[in-house]
Amino acid sequence: MTVRTNSLANIIQKKLDVSTYREQHWEGTLWDYLDLVQQDPAVARNAFQRVYDMIQSFGVETVTQFKQEYKRYKFFSDPIGEGADAIYGLESKLVTLVDFFKSASQGYGTEKRILLLHGPVGSSKSTIARLIKKGLEWYSRTDAGRLYTYSWRLPHKHGDEGM
Ligand SMILES: Nc1ncnc2c1ncn2[C@@H]1O[C@H](COP(=O)(O)OP(=O)(O)OP(=O)(O)O)[C@@H](O)[C@H]1O
Ligand SMILES: [Mg+2]
Repeated sequence: MTVRTNSLANIIQKKLDVSTYREQHWEGTLWDYLDLVQQDPAVARNAFQRVYDMIQSFGVETVTQFKQEYKRYKFFSDPIGEGADAIYGLESKLVTLVDFFKSASQGYGTEKRILLLHGPVGSSKSTIARLIKKGLEWYSRTDAGRLYTYSWRLPHKHGDEGM
């Protein structure tokens, strides 16, 4: 019960966090946006680079299996979901997957291809897709992963008030 009350208090606290709210609901003109891009060009990077940077942001480690060393992206241990969707034993396949995002982000041709996860039933294809979705959502709320969209602000026509 105490745990529940605490988590409820945390949620309320988060909702009251004005600065986070302000950061996540930034509004400005196109010129303001261009200033932001000038300060931090990563704001306007392409989607492949964004996925790659998100995965990289969790770090890389080296694991040894059967006397062989493998590169392991910590992201695939699902740090966001506290390990709920962690994937193990597919190190080399996951490196190939991350390499796809890396080369596509640099425009090396793979960006025009369809990425097909092909493998036996229950071999974590959907889990990988879910992890990436979850990771991008999380990343978009961080300073490094912020992204912007645009909307038109049309002048109000007479009689539009209250619509
Ligand atoms: N290498 C792995 N490490 C950890 N868990 C795994 C691994 N492979 C599969 N799982 C687990 O097995 C379950 C099934 O995986 P998932 O649904 O992602 O498979 P799939 O490849 O999409 O299967 P399907 O072909 O039926 O769609 C999930 O709970 C997933 O976490
Ligand atoms: Mg599936």
